[in-house]
Amino acid sequence: MEKLVISGGKALSGEVSVSGAKNAAVAIIPATILADSPCTLENVPCIKDVAVMFEIMTRMGAVIKQTGENTFYVDATGVNTTDVVFEEAGRMRASYYILGALLAKKGKACVRMPGGCFFGDRPMDQHIKGFSILGADCRFDDPKDCVSVFAEKGLKGGYIYMDVVSVGATINVMIAAVTAEGTTVIENAAREPHIVDVANFLNMMGANIKGAGTEVIKIKGVKELKGVNYSIIPDQIEAGTYIAAIAATHGKALVKNVIPKHLDSIIVKINEMGVKTSVGDNGDSIFVDAGGELKCCKVKTMPHPGFPTDMQPQFVALMAMATGTSHMRETVWECRFQYIEQLIKTGMDVKISGNKRDLLIIEGGKKLHGTDMQATDLRAGAAMIITALCADGVSTISNINYIERGYDRIVDKLKAMGADIDKKDF
Ligand code: EPZ
Repeated sequence: MEKLVISGGKALSGEVSVSGAKNAAVAIIPATILADSPCTLENVPCIKDVAVMFEIMTRMGAVIKQTGENTFYVDATGVNTTDVVFEEAGRMRASYYILGALLAKKGKACVRMPGGCFFGDRPMDQHIKGFSILGADCRFDDPKDCVSVFAEKGLKGGYIYMDVVSVGATINVMIAAVTAEGTTVIENAAREPHIVDVANFLNMMGANIKGAGTEVIKIKGVKELKGVNYSIIPDQIEAGTYIAAIAATHGKALVKNVIPKHLDSIIVKINEMGVKTSVGDNGDSIFVDAGGELKCCKVKTMPHPGFPTDMQPQFVALMAMATGTSHMRETVWECRFQYIEQLIKTGMDVKISGNKRDLLIIEGGKKLHGTDMQATDLRAGAAMIITALCADGVSTISNINYIERGYDRIVDKLKAMGADIDKKDF
């Protein structure tokens, strides 16, 4: 079994370049199904979730060729099925975007219930609500563990008020509405940077989407979409993860290929903790200087533009390095704290609190020691790496498949910044 082996105690330095955004790529790839001609996607992160999505698309009849280190030719015009019930489709959450894309292109789909990291219930009611308002008949087929959608008379635009701010439902309904007859309005839409990236991709193909990135998105249906060349935005969460790692190790390093605006909520908190940051002259990099003492702080996760839930575990690892008591409140997922047992094994003082058990209290400044940890999900795995980088002695992290789902070449990138980290077979 492969594990990461990390010897802590070294401050990160030098520079790191951020890859393309996972949560944009896993939506844009299936959205190519809407195009009447091939696409070329650039700045695609080489991560497991993208590889699985490419595998699913290939099995559906698409032709996919890697034409550069992070560039892929995607011809989805050969997609010849609306049944995507094979095992791979159940391996990750993002496979539900195939529902929206096939509904827009073929008027029907049956897709394996999506998997993904477990932090409690991961419903799809808002996706189904949106598809139903557009005129699709939707049902869960329990025996086959799949979701079926069918729009016999085609899709018609409608007004959808999302009961919950949902990234997936916003993107999925936006994709489905692109070819619907008439106008669709999505109210209480999620506003994450990857939603804007998917909308920009669809508009470049010929869609008519306005308001992505705000809580109201308006989509006017179009008949045809053509294949385009498109470069995916840098990954906000990968960038935030390296910023937290540099800060936690009291390092000084440059984080390149970022969109600073996407990092506002993370930078505000990092600055509150006493870490100095500055945006590079070209506006696409951030220099992080964490030479001084780290101060405790309080964070509450919120939908964008609030502090991202996908930075919660990594920031807890950073807070453990700060002097004093820090608070982390998780408001997006019902139980995204399973990983703390692993961090406590290093001597970290973190406990769950609050009447809704949605609050972590972190007593910072403790000396941490290396230990064996098991990644419990993608971002928790990143938090374990940060903790191991700060602990005295050697740590191992298993279940690294979780980490490799979302971080492109993380071992190489950390090594290049001076970390003592290796991937070894046990
Ligand atoms: C996306 O998941 C991301 N995954 C997650 O990132 C991220 O944590 C999440 O958005 C929030 O930002 C991808 O983009 C592939 P949601 P998604 O729908 O779309 C509730 C990572 O680490 N909800 O925004 O599944 C839901 O229970 C991953 O990269 C409903 O109630 O999240 C949750 O409480 C982990 N009904 C809240 O909304 C629905 O129909 C937010 O979920 C859908 C969601």
